[in-house]
Amino acid sequence: MNKEGLKKISYGVYIVNTVNSGCVVNTLTQVTNDKITVTINKDNYTNKMLKEYKKFNVTVLTKNTDMTVIQTFGFTSSKDNDKYANFKTEADSNNIPYIKEDMAALIEAEVTDIIDVDTHTIFIAKILNTKKLSNNEVMTYDYYHKVKNGVTPPKAPTYEKPKKGYRCKICGYVYEGEELPKDFVCPICGAPASAFEKID
Ligand SMILES: Cc1cc2nc3c(=O)[nH]c(=O)nc-3n(C[C@H](O)[C@H](O)[C@H](O)COP(=O)(O)O)c2cc1C
Repeated sequence: MNKEGLKKISYGVYIVNTVNSGCVVNTLTQVTNDKITVTINKDNYTNKMLKEYKKFNVTVLTKNTDMTVIQTFGFTSSKDNDKYANFKTEADSNNIPYIKEDMAALIEAEVTDIIDVDTHTIFIAKILNTKKLSNNEVMTYDYYHKVKNGVTPPKAPTYEKPKKGYRCKICGYVYEGEELPKDFVCPICGAPASAFEKID
């Protein structure tokens, strides 16, 4: 199957926060005036926590959002570390944390239905409340890739296996090419060339 067309679908970039867990997603969609859906990989801890607690919030990332937020929430698991420890957080009306700085909006929601899609779960949720957090321009998935040089980790639904290159063992960033320059520095987490492994 030719997957080129899929790259033309536009998305935003968000953080889904629930109790003790949060992760970056691009698969958030508004489906009606009071419902959203989000698709989460079953291997992500946030999937388990959403099924358990049902209530969550979403923050809408902006072009100003620090890349360390994406690195922490998109490339590490809440199962292994407290992602919120190094950031200033606020609590929403259900006491679920979120990072307010450089976000465009907060959406509070509650899961009403779930749909099993093999490796992923589609969560359908009722919107409980929303709040504008800033007038900053929102970060689109396209901007994340083209301007921020961002990548997508294996547990994201839109992940595509790169053909050849070197993978950062710290954050998963893949440099595509035959030779990794000796002075290469990972654009996501700042790791040196020695932290990269060859992939075929
Ligand atoms: C730009 C970007 C988009 C992502 N989109 C999704 C997504 O839509 N669904 C998903 O399950 N994971 C997505 N991920 C991957 C998760 O954020 C990642 O696997 C995270 O480490 C899971 O954390 P957790 O184990 O604490 O839930 C995305 C990551 C990035 C960087």
